Amino acid sequence: MVPFLRGSLLLAPMVGITNRAFRTFVHELGDADWYMTEMASAEAFLSGGRNEAVYLDPAPCPSRTSVQFAARSPDSLAAACRALSRAPDERRPAGIDINMGCAAPRIKSSGRGAALLDNAPLAKEMVAAARENWAGILSAKIRLSAAQGEEGTILLAKTLAEAGLDFLVVHARLDTQKFRRRADHGFALALAKELPIPVMANGDISTAEECRSLLASGNIHSLMIGRAAVREPWLFRDLHAGLSGRSEISPETQDLMTIGLRYIDLAEAMLPPEWQKETCRRIFSYYSDNVSFAHYLKFSLINSPSLEGMRGIVKKYFDEVPQDRYR
Ligand SMILES: Cc1cc2nc3c(=O)[nH]c(=O)nc-3n(C[C@H](O)[C@H](O)[C@H](O)COP(=O)(O)O)c2cc1C
Repeated sequence: MVPFLRGSLLLAPMVGITNRAFRTFVHELGDADWYMTEMASAEAFLSGGRNEAVYLDPAPCPSRTSVQFAARSPDSLAAACRALSRAPDERRPAGIDINMGCAAPRIKSSGRGAALLDNAPLAKEMVAAARENWAGILSAKIRLSAAQGEEGTILLAKTLAEAGLDFLVVHARLDTQKFRRRADHGFALALAKELPIPVMANGDISTAEECRSLLASGNIHSLMIGRAAVREPWLFRDLHAGLSGRSEISPETQDLMTIGLRYIDLAEAMLPPEWQKETCRRIFSYYSDNVSFAHYLKFSLINSPSLEGMRGIVKKYFDEVPQDRYR
């Protein structure tokens, strides 16, 4: 059983982005139906790393948030699940997601992330270990394995479902592919037809039309959105309105300056000082695409030495290009 309705919209996990500050930002501007934290290391969590509590903080919506773990072994994933089960209510997320899609060499070479797509016995053990030690919602996020092909990846997904997943997210790209080619949702549809558990499709989704067409077959349960929601953090509100067919809720006018400044405030209030500038840079590298001189704004912000400097750059940009401020 998944705790959200068919046709729900989930925020994708993104390292350096979907921390508590960004999830609060999205919650304020429109609200996703379900949230994922950025990937956290099960081992670092267990060893009590300095910022682990921040990685795993499920606020502002713990009852609609999954913490995503990458783990080196079923034992450490099991221990992390047990530890999270004992967390006080406000720090305990509703779900745990297992990362089986990250293809970064540092992750794959340690047997984590997308390496699990090509190691079905270990992937199955991971799910079984988590299931035994976590009574909440359990999911995994996969890609399409270049080595196993569609058939092999579907077989793997069936094994994972049997081992106890509540749902599966598929980022419909090969594990060897970067973002240049479009996601292949034909694979997500094929997978959804074969699996006994709900499948969520992810990759390049940004419009209500795309959502409608993916949900039309009735096989895909819900949709997960990543980069488009960083570019337009109010996107979930627009998509919900578009999907419900309530055309009278026309997209609201967005004040890009106020929204940009709000994210800087949230990062400053909620994140450790050493994360603040980096997360703002990452968010603004997408958010800046909303303005005419995106490159200029992006590079000015990336080179700013402080949050105060970033605030000044955002204000100056909209003073100089006032026609860009309201969208
Ligand atoms: C900056 C960045 C960081 C990401 N970090 C993670 C992560 O921590 N865990 C994960 O499963 N996927 C991660 N992804 C992949 C996204 O969750 C998502 O699958 C991918 O961006 C495709 O969805 P989109 O087209 O809606 O962005 C990341 C993607 C980006 C762009």
